[in-house]
Amino acid sequence: MRRFCLDRRYFPTAPGIWILAFLAAGSAFPLSQAKELPFRTLAKKKGILFGSAIRARAIEEDPEYSKFAAKQFSILTPENDFKFDALHPEESRFDFTRADQVVAFAKKHRQLVRGHTLVWHNPEALPDWVKNPDRTPAELKKLLQNHIKSVLLHFSKTANGVVVSWDVINEAFDEEGNFRQDSIWARIEPDGFKFFSWVYRLSHRIAPKLKLYYNDYGIEAPGKKTEAVFRMMRRLKQAGVPIHGIGFQTHGSSGWNTDLSEFPGILKRFDKLGLRITISEMDYSIPTPATSTKDLEQQARIYAEALKACLSVNSCQAFITWGFTDRTLWEGNFKEGFGASTYLDSEMKPKPAFRALRRVLTKK
Ligand code: XIL
Repeated sequence: MRRFCLDRRYFPTAPGIWILAFLAAGSAFPLSQAKELPFRTLAKKKGILFGSAIRARAIEEDPEYSKFAAKQFSILTPENDFKFDALHPEESRFDFTRADQVVAFAKKHRQLVRGHTLVWHNPEALPDWVKNPDRTPAELKKLLQNHIKSVLLHFSKTANGVVVSWDVINEAFDEEGNFRQDSIWARIEPDGFKFFSWVYRLSHRIAPKLKLYYNDYGIEAPGKKTEAVFRMMRRLKQAGVPIHGIGFQTHGSSGWNTDLSEFPGILKRFDKLGLRITISEMDYSIPTPATSTKDLEQQARIYAEALKACLSVNSCQAFITWGFTDRTLWEGNFKEGFGASTYLDSEMKPKPAFRALRRVLTKK
């Protein structure tokens, strides 16, 4: 390589010059280059994938957004483009246009995609034809089965080896640790264990190569919900149900005093069950406008803590944030007066959290 050129024509004199040249080439250059290594490369050295929630529309319309995503990430989670209402707007019509754009982007940039999500109770992501209150449990079961089958088969055919995992069920427990009975899907089967078993066995039969995850929020600290999810995962594993991983969303806010001090210990418990782990939707909102150094530093600390927790267990596969710039924030996440939850501001300038993440990834 040219920078190591030792051709005598260029270095014909005293040995001192050789030594100086060698030192300059060996130390200074790689250091300056290391500063520019993207997250995906730094994360790979630590054995994990690094990514973000992504919007097909923003990829298409915002060149700065798509440039950053292309360069920095090794894994993408479609923020909304793989959800029920997006893919299946009418009973007899699927629409994979946006979803396929995400997959095409990932293929182009050699990235993986996590499917998100097949079974979610949130009415916001369910089309009206599903929410029709007259549907019987048997009808609901049939339509969910058909949805899961069609969606998984579509991506098996078009995105084999790209869409490698799915959040099959998302947020099935309430804050008290109960299997949500207000979910439309609980009408199919009110018993959580039976419902999970049915959904994961079905998904595995259709797409046996995929890693099937359960994904939830508010399970990063000890509590009723964390315990309920742990027990469910343990029971499923013991029963041989094909569930392979768990996503810890890790949404946080200084508005509700996120505490990640016990997070590594919790990850260890799930790791021992033989589950893969992903930090799946990390963000941390702070008071807006986000001008206080103290708040920005606090945000940086929490981002770093979450990433360190991931690196503390062997089974952690990926660190994924819910967006990466305050330009495309997740609306409605925050208490009044809170926001700015990502690590780049709305002009794509790095906030302290950006540097904190890089520090964790570059630390020996
Ligand atoms: C959110 C999206 O970010 C919003 O754009 C959308 O309006 C609602 O859903 N947990 C999840 C994600 O699993 O799917 C949610 O995404 C955020 C909380």
